[in-house]
Amino acid sequence: MSNILIRGGKKLSGEIKVSGAKNSVVALIPAAILCDEKVIIDNVPNISDIDALEEILKYLNVTVERKNHSIVIDSSNMVNKEIPCVLASRLRASYYFMGSLLGRFQDVSMCFPGGCSIGERPINLHLKGFEKLGASVIEEDNQFHIYADKLIGDEIFLDVPSVGATINILLAAVKTPGKTIIENAAMEPEIVDVIEFLNKMGANIKGAGTCKLEIVGVEKLHSVHYSVVPDRIEAGTYIIIASLLGNPLTVSGLIPEHIDSLISKLEEAGVKFDIGRNYVRVDKVLSYHAIDIMTGVYPGFPTDLQQTMVAFLTQCKGTSHVEETIWENRFMNVPDTVKMGANIEVFDNRYATIKGKSNLIGKKVEATDLRGGASMVICGLLAKGETTITNVGHILRGYEDIVLKLSRVGADIEIVS
Ligand code: EPZ
Repeated sequence: MSNILIRGGKKLSGEIKVSGAKNSVVALIPAAILCDEKVIIDNVPNISDIDALEEILKYLNVTVERKNHSIVIDSSNMVNKEIPCVLASRLRASYYFMGSLLGRFQDVSMCFPGGCSIGERPINLHLKGFEKLGASVIEEDNQFHIYADKLIGDEIFLDVPSVGATINILLAAVKTPGKTIIENAAMEPEIVDVIEFLNKMGANIKGAGTCKLEIVGVEKLHSVHYSVVPDRIEAGTYIIIASLLGNPLTVSGLIPEHIDSLISKLEEAGVKFDIGRNYVRVDKVLSYHAIDIMTGVYPGFPTDLQQTMVAFLTQCKGTSHVEETIWENRFMNVPDTVKMGANIEVFDNRYATIKGKSNLIGKKVEATDLRGGASMVICGLLAKGETTITNVGHILRGYEDIVLKLSRVGADIEIVS
C-alpha cells in the first residue's frame, strides 16, 4: 500500500492546471451507452473512478479505448446483464448505469453502489423517479432489479435537489416517450454538462442550470465528440492551497464563476485574488481572519470543499464556524487535523468550531475519504516536519496527479511504499 509523504512549509509558485470534472465525467461515461454509435469524450481525468467505470463497460461488452485524456466508447455490441457487486461497489457513480440501462433496455440489475462513507447516501429519490416513469423496482439484499414494459414521461418532484437523482432520472427519461418534468432539480455545473452532452447527442432537454428540467423523449441519440467541464472542486482545493502557500500560485483552466461561493468566502477571510477568464492567481498574505461557512446545494458553498476549507480555517485568527447541511458524516478529517495541532470541536456531526491560528505539526494521518484526504494533504503542506498520509487510494480516486501537480510548483511531496 502506498502512502503520501509531505515535508511541509514550502512556498508554492507557478501554475496548476485543473483537470476535467470527476463528478461530470462519471455521469457522461454511463450516459454514452444511451446511443449505439461511437462517443468520444475529451478532458477525461486519469483517476481510479474512471478505471472502475471502464471495467463495468467492458463487462457489458462495450468497446472502450483510452488515450491520454480521451475515451472512445462504442456500445454497438453491448450486452445487458447484471452488474455484480464487485464492480458496482467500487464507486458511487456506478448508480448512473441504473438510469442509462433503464433508458436503453428498460431493464437493469445491479448492486447498491459504493463510494465514500460520508453519510447514509440513500437512493430513494432515484428510484421514485424511475417508478414515476413507469418502472418497477425490486430491491433485495442490496440488489436492485428495475424494469418496465414501457416507460412514459411524467412529472417528478424531488424532495431535495439531489445531484445523483437529477442525473439518473435524466438518463432514464431522454429516450422515454412523452414529456418528463423534473422539479426541484439540482443545478450543479456537472448537471449542466451532462445536459449539454445529451443535447449534443440529439436529446431534447430544456432548463439546464435551473430547478425545472423539461425532457421530451427522442427515439434515437447519435454519436458525439465532447469535452468535460473543468473540475470546480479540484480547482477550489488548489485555490485554498494557493491562499495558504501561494508565492504567487496560479490555478488555470477553470471556470471561476463555478466557485463564486468559495471565492467570496476566501475574500471575506482576507484572501486577495487576481481573477481572469479561466484562471485565479493568489499571493498569500500575512494573516487571515475567522469566517463562518454553511454548505448548501449549488450555487451555495459546496460540501465537497468543506473539509479542505476546515484546513484553511485552522490558519485564520479567531473562531470560525462550519455547518455541514448535506452529509451526516463529513468531519472524518477532524480528529487527525486536531492530532496535527488544530483546535477544532465538532457538535452533532453537523457543526464545527475552529479556533485559529494553529501551528500544525507533521504526523501520521489517514485519508478517511476523498475530500478528507485532500484536507490532510493541505495540513501536511502547512505543517512543520513530515506528514505521512495513509489510505491514499481515496485521494487518487478523485484528484488526477495530485502529487505531481503539487511537486511541480515546489511542494516536497511524494508517493512512498
Ligand atoms: C454528488 O453525490 C457528488 N457525487 C458528491 O461528491 C457531492 O457531495 C454531492 O453530489 C452533493 O453535491 C457525485 O457526483 C458522484 P446528492 P450524490 O444526491 O449525487 C440526499 C465528492 O466528494 N438524498 O446530491 O450522491 C442525500 O442524503 C462527492 O466528489 C436523498 O435523501 O449526492 C444528501 O443529503 C462525495 N435521497 C443530499 O440528498 C436520494 O435519493 C444530496 O445528495 C438522494 C439524495
